[in-house]
Amino acid sequence: MLSWDDYHKEEAAPASAATANIANATPAMMDQTVEQKVELNAEPASETKPAPTSKPSPAQENTPAPDSVAAANSPEIFAKAAEAVNNLDITAGLEELEMGAARVSVDEKAMINCRADLNQLVPFKYEWAWQKYIDGCANHWMPQEINMTADVATWKDPEGLTDDERRIVMRNLGYFSTADSLVANNLVLAIYRLITNPECRQYILRQAFEEAIHTHAYQYCIESLAMDEGEVFNMYREVPSVAKKAAWSISHTHELSDPTFTTGTLETDQTLLRNLIGFYAVTEGIFFYCGFTQILSMGRRNKMTGVAEQFQYILRDESMHLNFGIDVINQIKLENPHLWTDTLQQEAIQMILEGTQLEIDYARDTMPRGVLGMNAAMMEEYLHFIANRRLSQLGLPEQFAGAQNPFPWMSEIMDLRKEKNFFETRVIEYQTGGALTWN
Ligand SMILES: [Fe+2]
Ligand SMILES: [Fe+2]
Repeated sequence: MLSWDDYHKEEAAPASAATANIANATPAMMDQTVEQKVELNAEPASETKPAPTSKPSPAQENTPAPDSVAAANSPEIFAKAAEAVNNLDITAGLEELEMGAARVSVDEKAMINCRADLNQLVPFKYEWAWQKYIDGCANHWMPQEINMTADVATWKDPEGLTDDERRIVMRNLGYFSTADSLVANNLVLAIYRLITNPECRQYILRQAFEEAIHTHAYQYCIESLAMDEGEVFNMYREVPSVAKKAAWSISHTHELSDPTFTTGTLETDQTLLRNLIGFYAVTEGIFFYCGFTQILSMGRRNKMTGVAEQFQYILRDESMHLNFGIDVINQIKLENPHLWTDTLQQEAIQMILEGTQLEIDYARDTMPRGVLGMNAAMMEEYLHFIANRRLSQLGLPEQFAGAQNPFPWMSEIMDLRKEKNFFETRVIEYQTGGALTWN
């Protein structure tokens, strides 16, 4: 495990000559640098690549010597390869598609149960999905870009935070560190497979990487603050208010985790819709909001500004995940109106209410007293406001009449662009520069 001091050394290390050159380069110099790289790459790797700085992996160490059966330059193996290439059947695999190798038209594309070729990205049917992919890429960030020095000092200082403030930091890192892994697993193992549209899948791939960055960010915070990792990563099993939220998400996305689950009938299509509401509208749309508000309120009070800045970027990503998910759900409803029965609408409302109640319980557990200018009652009001928003986004009636937003500054953070830093603590992009030196 890297200690904070190790991290700090990396951050403080002077840029290598190569990095410094790139950082100070003019456009003309940059062209030259690129050319030099191409030249270097053209030569045998063994003569130009620097010795690796990291230890070889066990797989590298255990690579066996070439087997005598597959000796170099065997004429037979060359002949076999040539024969296989000459006889390659270019229709192989395409017969599985109802529409074969035909060019796909927009009308044949569908959000679920599509039988057209999913390898053809264009023509787009859902321009909004492609735009979200472009916007997600434009928002790219990495956890190491954020300076954690002040947070470490605050965390180590017995007077740095109150017990109630420490509880908020611990609980939220405990919930989020495992929740985002759960989200990523659902995305790549199930949602990607069941959404049969290439432009949406392109965004899902982007979202999946963002979930990896979020898990990385939580890990970066936990490690920087030298927290007890076992305690933090097991809260989703051991702390009731955290465990209940995790258990709800797991049970309401149950079919998503079944590798044999497929859609195509009224019942299974409704099951998918129900799971998507559990995943996007509740897990990503309600369960994150108490924690985000608490940590960002801490940052606004100039405490734990590094952790808060990580959460600020995560919140911006999450609000886009949520909006994408709502658009997907509404598009499925539009294309398959027979799925959106009164019974399913009632179930959806109940799911939002259950999620809201669990998040209110979480607010009470994490804030037994007023802290950071807020308390559990204010959070309850905010969660009623959020629940109304989710219901209306899904075309369902609001359930909490007159609920107001006591934290209007949260909306401002969600729309934040990367270059406008809310807390003004972002360090120079040392990691991006450092990454260029390996070649
Ligand atoms: Fe996330
Ligand atoms: Fe997400």
